Amino acid sequence: QDIDPAQLVLNTTPNPKPLKKPEDLVFGRNFTDHMLTIEWDQATGWQRPHITPYQNLSLDPASCVFHYAFECFEGLKAYKDKEGRVRLFRPDKNMERFNKSAARIALPTFDSAALIDLIARFAKLESRFIPEERGYSLYLRPTMIGTQKTLGVGPPGSALLFVIASPVGPYYPTGFKAVSLEATDYAVRAWPGGVGDKKLGANYAPCIVPQREAMSRGFQQNLWLFGEDEYVTEVGTMNFFAAVRNKQTGRKELLTAPLDGTILEGVTRDSVLSLARERLAPEGWDIIERKFTMRELDEAAAEGRLIEAFGAGTAAIVSPVRAISWRGKLVNCGLKDHEESGEIATKMKNWIEARQYGDDAHEWSYVC
Ligand code: COI
Repeated sequence: QDIDPAQLVLNTTPNPKPLKKPEDLVFGRNFTDHMLTIEWDQATGWQRPHITPYQNLSLDPASCVFHYAFECFEGLKAYKDKEGRVRLFRPDKNMERFNKSAARIALPTFDSAALIDLIARFAKLESRFIPEERGYSLYLRPTMIGTQKTLGVGPPGSALLFVIASPVGPYYPTGFKAVSLEATDYAVRAWPGGVGDKKLGANYAPCIVPQREAMSRGFQQNLWLFGEDEYVTEVGTMNFFAAVRNKQTGRKELLTAPLDGTILEGVTRDSVLSLARERLAPEGWDIIERKFTMRELDEAAAEGRLIEAFGAGTAAIVSPVRAISWRGKLVNCGLKDHEESGEIATKMKNWIEARQYGDDAHEWSYVC
């Protein structure tokens, strides 16, 4: 039995929470009144979906999620448009990836359209938590865990899918702020044949130490390189883009690493590429998914060909990069001292937001 939205059991809270002032919101710290839960077991499949008051989970300590990391998640946002309607941004992309992540760790898959329908109802129910101001949204966190009580290493015979929601403000409340990165040379985030392209919780915990190391030396984030050639892969928890002028042809190129299994299939990454092909290519840009090295970036910077660089992810949309510390030197990524963002990053943020808030009517926006 697959997920069936028609069977939803709705149990609303008798104690609605007071709303926080939008300016007091810290990313991922506040949650709405309710949660969506759907249990699964091997014998009967997906059970009736429930929306209940937000509450603790009760799990047996032997539940396999605690021992062998049977956990995957998604991050997507709901926005309020000018008419007060609630809109999800490209939920089909998140559901597609959620299913791929689940399948990779032997958790059950599900009908994407059915879960989108339920998430839309949930987001609409929590509509009062979504501030109307630009930059604000409701961050939705679909999560799936294996719940089977066993220390045996095997496919979970039961699972829980839940969705919680957190009202969030602009990632940079004081406006865009360019970040400086430290290239991590002692750890890798992902490797060929690994699971770096899946959104597994187990991919995130090991990122904290390199991130903390970078911060201890005054950098806001770390840059993930891969292999002896030091391919540039991702920045913190975001995909990475560089705008460079080609050494031979002088043409402008927007570069990002290809989806070779070591790169998270970011929805924002895909949106940036798609908008770039639609709007930058006609202006003479080449939009290229290929492997590129830190040495190439350094050389481009030294020759004045590195135009700008930025990270792309759901939380921040785009995050401009000022400089990268690599092999004891600081590679400047093209911003002038007084600039906090390059032209492409700024355009991308505006173009993507226009579609998220429904100002630019587009099929990426799903009206709840
Ligand atoms: C993103 O949206 O950039 C992320 O992946 C961050 C999220 C794990 C909080």
